[in-house]
Amino acid sequence: MNRSAHPVVRIDRLSKIYRPKRTLGSSHSSHPVIALNQVSLDIERGEIFGLVGGSGSGKTTLGRLLVKLEKSDGGKIYLSENDTTRIRGQALKAFRAKVQMIFQDPYQSLNPQLTIFDTVSEPLIIHKTSSRSTRIKKVRKVLTTVGFSPAEDYFSRYPHELSGGQRQRVAIARAIVLNPEFIVADEPTSMLDATNSFQIFNILSDLRKKQRVTFLFITHSLAAANFLCDRIGVIYHGNLVEKGPARQIIRHPAHPYTKALLDALPSYCQDPACTFHNTLLESPRDLPGSSHYCPFFTLCREADPYQCASETPNMIHLSATHSAACFKAG
Ligand SMILES: Nc1ncnc2c1ncn2[C@@H]1O[C@H](COP(=O)(O)OP(=O)(O)OP(=O)(O)O)[C@@H](O)[C@H]1O
Ligand SMILES: [Mg+2]
Repeated sequence: MNRSAHPVVRIDRLSKIYRPKRTLGSSHSSHPVIALNQVSLDIERGEIFGLVGGSGSGKTTLGRLLVKLEKSDGGKIYLSENDTTRIRGQALKAFRAKVQMIFQDPYQSLNPQLTIFDTVSEPLIIHKTSSRSTRIKKVRKVLTTVGFSPAEDYFSRYPHELSGGQRQRVAIARAIVLNPEFIVADEPTSMLDATNSFQIFNILSDLRKKQRVTFLFITHSLAAANFLCDRIGVIYHGNLVEKGPARQIIRHPAHPYTKALLDALPSYCQDPACTFHNTLLESPRDLPGSSHYCPFFTLCREADPYQCASETPNMIHLSATHSAACFKAG
């Protein structure tokens, strides 16, 4: 892929902290959760960027910040080089037409009281973009794009009359009906079987190829990201720890956490050529006393007991396209 000088999305040191809500009668105070810690990345036009990490690592938080379902606590978000971090009013409405999100659960993301036609045409009405006859044509077109044929047969159905895979395809149709520039797809196949997942992957891939839609594809699976994505970013406890071309990350992982994710892939370890990296400690070590340390220190078999316990690693460039936040990388 040609790396353009102007990425569609640029995130600069984005942070999000969830502070505990005070509740009446609560005797103990819980700690704030640093869901994202100064995450920076660029997503190029027409690429599928995979964000990979374990449960609770901050993937959905990043997606929700990008589509402005939540506010950040620091850092900047740029869409086509325009600072959109704090936009409001008309600018926010225009932004919402260009940026969409597909959620993990197709059973909860569609309004059960709307027909498929109303579900998919609603964004066109909200953004007052077309007459009823044009809306019918557009809904027919996007439903066909996501594999409903003939599309009209599904217009008057309700979400409960569809399978999970069909619902997720309706959610994609709704997301693309305004021709967005950028879509966040948050684990869109995690509730689907292999055949439906494969179909969704193909739809996203086609949208990228034919309509140059740019995607952030969120997943806990390095295998799924490797299958679909051009580049991958690996996130651990709110910290982006490695990013680079998908093939590079899979073949030459640099961060011990990425290596641990690869070790956990059954298909990867069945390959006789695969290296078992064995970077994960069986039982975590204690947190160091200092206020700066590597976020993976407690689980990392390769950690230096002095440096990794007293300094936070920055991203190191291993090549023009590959970087990792580990003192030992490279
Ligand atoms: N609204 C919220 N209020 C408080 N804490 C939250 C909120 N949303 C997320 N968190 C916390 O932020 C952290 C990151 O959550 P997030 O949902 O982004 O993780 P995730 O990587 O998407 O996980 P999963 O793979 O399970 O979906 C978690 O510790 C979570 O408990
Ligand atoms: Mg999530």
